[in-house]
Amino acid sequence: MIDTLRANQLVHGELAKRGEYDNSPHFLPENKLSVKAIFHEFIDAVGIKQDVLFRNCLDLGCGTGFMYEILSDLGNIQYTGIDITDEMLNVFNKKWPEAYALNAQAEKLPFPISSFSLVVNYSFIDHLDSPRDVFKEAYRVLEENGIFYSGLIPNSEFSLNIAKSIEKCCAESYIGFKVNSIMNKEYRSMFDNGNIYATKYGIDSYILKTAEPQKTSLHGLNISQIQEELESVGFKKVYVFPNWFMAQALVKSDPTKLDIIKDYLRSLGPIGQSLFKYFDIFAVK
Ligand SMILES: C[S@@+](CC[C@H](N)C(=O)[O-])C[C@H]1O[C@@H](n2cnc3c(N)ncnc32)[C@H](O)[C@@H]1O
Repeated sequence: MIDTLRANQLVHGELAKRGEYDNSPHFLPENKLSVKAIFHEFIDAVGIKQDVLFRNCLDLGCGTGFMYEILSDLGNIQYTGIDITDEMLNVFNKKWPEAYALNAQAEKLPFPISSFSLVVNYSFIDHLDSPRDVFKEAYRVLEENGIFYSGLIPNSEFSLNIAKSIEKCCAESYIGFKVNSIMNKEYRSMFDNGNIYATKYGIDSYILKTAEPQKTSLHGLNISQIQEELESVGFKKVYVFPNWFMAQALVKSDPTKLDIIKDYLRSLGPIGQSLFKYFDIFAVK
């Protein structure tokens, strides 16, 4: 038996040592652009000044510096990254020698109250036993009116819908409906996450599943539940941005089509949000 923290160190340590980690799909240029666009949308929506927001940022589970690059492009002035995996931090330090990152655990941050204007994390909270414990710590180290951002949160509503379609709706009862390769791929990435990585990287599937408890046992996180948890630790307002609708990659070369589909699904609110694979959130202290 290993715990979640150790499983994360083993998985991310191995990926970093092999130089594989930065091949993760979220490093694709179109995703980096999409994260920056979400920040701009949020800034415009709440009218916060960029020099106030980006004054002093903390990145939880910084890994090799995905968010450091984004924040630098957006105009970050001061950045601190924390992570529990030394191999990830080694890659970070080689890539970004000018930045500061240290080994620390997000549930026990070594910083006093009100230290940061912005606390971010990306592809992170599905790796935690208790996202709420980290929300509490983020709240503690944020200044009044400081902002918490969490990106690439797997949407459990999406995965449960995919499961329903694949397991319950057979082609005989829905004329014209066929489970295609896209749906199968999405299904496997949500319900067979350990084995996919085991095949790709040769890391034990039990360790991989243990490293992603929220994805493994709950198939992602529920948008309303995350909103409620953030509010229950004290955040006064939570904003949700659904991101990456199913098969978005198929239309990525046609930005006009992509925007039309995305805007339409987002305009449907709670109905449309179940068709997005991920969501991002901002919360205001
Ligand atoms: C999927 S990676 C994401 C890295 C980076 N944010 C990115 O988007 O590329 C998750 C990172 O979180 C780190 N991690 C997992 N649990 C953690 C915890 N409780 N406290 C701090 N870091 C943690 C892992 O070591 C790993 O580097």
